Amino acid sequence: MAQDKVSPMEGSWKIDKEFHIDEDMGFILPNPLEDLPDKYADWISIAKILPDLIENGTLRAQVEKLPQLSIDDLQGHKLQRLAHLVLGYITMAYVWYRGKEDVSKVLPSNIAVPYCKLSEKLGLPPILVYADCVLANWKKKDPNGPMIYENMDILFSLPGGDCSKGFFLVSLLVEMAAASAIKEIPIIFNAIQHQDQVTFKKALGEITSCLNKAHEVFQQVHKHVDPNLFFSVLRIYLSGWKGNSLLKDGLLYEGVWDTPRQFSGGSAAQSSIFQCFDVLLGIQQSTGEEYAAEFLQDMRTYMPPAHKAFLESLEKGPSVREFVLSNGDTSLKSVYDECVKALVSLRNYHLQVVTKYIVIPARQQNKDNQTSEDPSEAENRGTGGTNVMTFLKTVRNTTEKYLMKEG
Ligand code: HEM
Repeated sequence: MAQDKVSPMEGSWKIDKEFHIDEDMGFILPNPLEDLPDKYADWISIAKILPDLIENGTLRAQVEKLPQLSIDDLQGHKLQRLAHLVLGYITMAYVWYRGKEDVSKVLPSNIAVPYCKLSEKLGLPPILVYADCVLANWKKKDPNGPMIYENMDILFSLPGGDCSKGFFLVSLLVEMAAASAIKEIPIIFNAIQHQDQVTFKKALGEITSCLNKAHEVFQQVHKHVDPNLFFSVLRIYLSGWKGNSLLKDGLLYEGVWDTPRQFSGGSAAQSSIFQCFDVLLGIQQSTGEEYAAEFLQDMRTYMPPAHKAFLESLEKGPSVREFVLSNGDTSLKSVYDECVKALVSLRNYHLQVVTKYIVIPARQQNKDNQTSEDPSEAENRGTGGTNVMTFLKTVRNTTEKYLMKEG
């Protein structure tokens, strides 16, 4: 990827090709493919009915029967992204199968070998990532219709009824709402270069509107995702094998590595759009006790390399915060603060959602089971492996500290 060739400083929207960013959809993969070449038909057929195969207890046997295919006939980015999504689904289902009681420590070579080769080609880890299950896992029912929940579907489902559809599509729509902010970035950088405060304020104001829109769209989560199904069924299939007591050493990718490897599970913490706002506003997440910055930095290795490169290139761009501070203009500070406030408010809302979807069901489960297990374990772990509430509050509080004026 020629990341360093074009910098956002140049201001023209040429950057989209280099960074695999779509002008309308941002980091979302536009119109993902739905079918692989015939040779890979068995992969697709398994992925299409994963929940049924888990339910009837035949998933693992079906996977073990698959021939080991070469990835040579997977040519082109979109086809490779589809194959990564499909193999990611099969891997999660194979490993977690029916939940905690029957976890596989080994991924058989017939899946592990092509999956790891493909992952290497795409620069992604061999585990289901946000770029698979959200960014590349959607279609419009009516291709000419709008990109709204009612006109959309996911390509592949996980156990838990419509829960995966709701979770992935709402995440996608939040991502989409925030995406139009990206095209304001070159405008902002140009405005800084030319000390053009009027254009700067207008563009930053547009970014605030996108954040507010994202906040509004986020509310659809309550309508489409059932908290109990999310917590007790879907979540395990998104979990990874890094810092996970169920797979302490990680997963052995048979035929690829001699020792188990650890990878974090799928999480919207792997979304590039929120990190993009932090970078743009000059918000540096803390490197203190909660390792928030380290975790978010690590999450970049789960993003498509072109998107990670975009974030790195933004970091080299002019500083929005410095521009606002050095001008000392109150109206400039207010526009900056409005944007930070919108991000804080989105993160506050996210905290409420996490309380409803993880913290409360976890408490309930511990009460019902009266297990001798450490009750904090289930409650506190995100699928990405973080100590959920502490991590998310740290990120929210740090964001808030960047407000220039009180309140
Ligand atoms: C039921 C809904 C959701 C739940 C339960 C949830 C849960 C979590 C958890 C547990 C984390 C901590 C990292 C980890 O260990 O995985 C996290 C982080 C994060 N989530 Fe969500 N999430 C939800 C929906 C969303 C949506 C729709 C978005 C936006 C697309 C989103 C964006 C983020 C971001 C950006 C982070 C990183 C922390 C930050 O930058 O503030 N989440 N989420």
